[in-house]
Amino acid sequence: PFYKTMFGLLELEEKIRSHFGLSQVVVVAGDSETSMQTKRELGRAGCQVLTKVMQPNDVVAVTGGTTIAQVSSQLVTNTPMKTNWFVPARGGLGESLDYQANTIASQMAKRTGAQYRLLHVPDHLGEEAFASIMQEPNIREIVEVIRSARIVVHGIGDAIVMARRRRLDREVIDAMEAEGALAESFGFYFDRNGAVVHKMQTVGLRLEDIVKTEVVIGVAGGKSKGEAIAAIMRFGHNDVLVTDEAAALEIAALI
Ligand code: F6P
Repeated sequence: PFYKTMFGLLELEEKIRSHFGLSQVVVVAGDSETSMQTKRELGRAGCQVLTKVMQPNDVVAVTGGTTIAQVSSQLVTNTPMKTNWFVPARGGLGESLDYQANTIASQMAKRTGAQYRLLHVPDHLGEEAFASIMQEPNIREIVEVIRSARIVVHGIGDAIVMARRRRLDREVIDAMEAEGALAESFGFYFDRNGAVVHKMQTVGLRLEDIVKTEVVIGVAGGKSKGEAIAAIMRFGHNDVLVTDEAAALEIAALI
C-alpha cells in the first residue's frame, strides 16, 4: 500500500526479512509502546497473517501477553472454523488472567467458531507435584495436541521485564542477567545470539517442538523490544514477524 512506501516501511520489511531469512515480515506504522492505536494495528496485522495461513484441521498454539491478546480480540472469520483448534502453547507462566495463553486460546476459538482445549498447570510447582501432574492422562492428552500444532503465534518480551512481571526470585534474575539474558518467548529466556539461557518449568511446547513447527508467527513491537526481537529472530525458527516501525528501526540498526 501507498502509506507503506511513503514511510519506507516496505524497505524495512524487506531488510529484516532477508537478513533473518523469514518468509514474511509485516511492519505497521508507529510505536505500539506509546500508542494504543498502533498496538491494535499490530494485533490486526497479526490476525491477517494468521487467518491467511490457517487451513482446515489446523491446531494453532498461542502464547499469552498483551500483544497476542490484541490478536485474539480482533480475530474474525467469514466462515466458522469448525475443524480448527486453538490451544495454549505452554502451561502457566505467571501472567494475569486476561493475558494468559488459556484465555487467549479460548477467545480466539469463540470468535472464529473453532474448538479449544485448555491446559491447567499451575505456576511455580515443586518437582514432585510437577512430576505427578505430568502423569495425569488428560494433561498428557492435551500436551500431545499442543505438540501437534502446525502453527504457533507468540509474543516476545525483554528478558528482565518479563522476569520481573513474573516475579522471579532476585537470584534467578541476577543469574540470568549474568548469562546475558536479553529476550523472552514461550517461557524460554535467550541471549543476544538467540541461545537459551533459562527455561521456566511448565509443560507444552518444548524447544524441539518449536524448531519443528511449520509456521511460527512472532507478534511484537515497541522501541524497547527491538533487541529482544532481533535475539529471537537469531534463535532462527520464525517464519513470520509482525512488528511495528519503532521496533523495526531498532532491529534494522542492529543488522
Ligand atoms: O508470557 C507470555 C508472553 O507471550 C511472553 O512469552 C512474552 O515475552 C510476553 O508475553 C509478551 O508480552 P506483551 O505482549 O504484553 O509485551
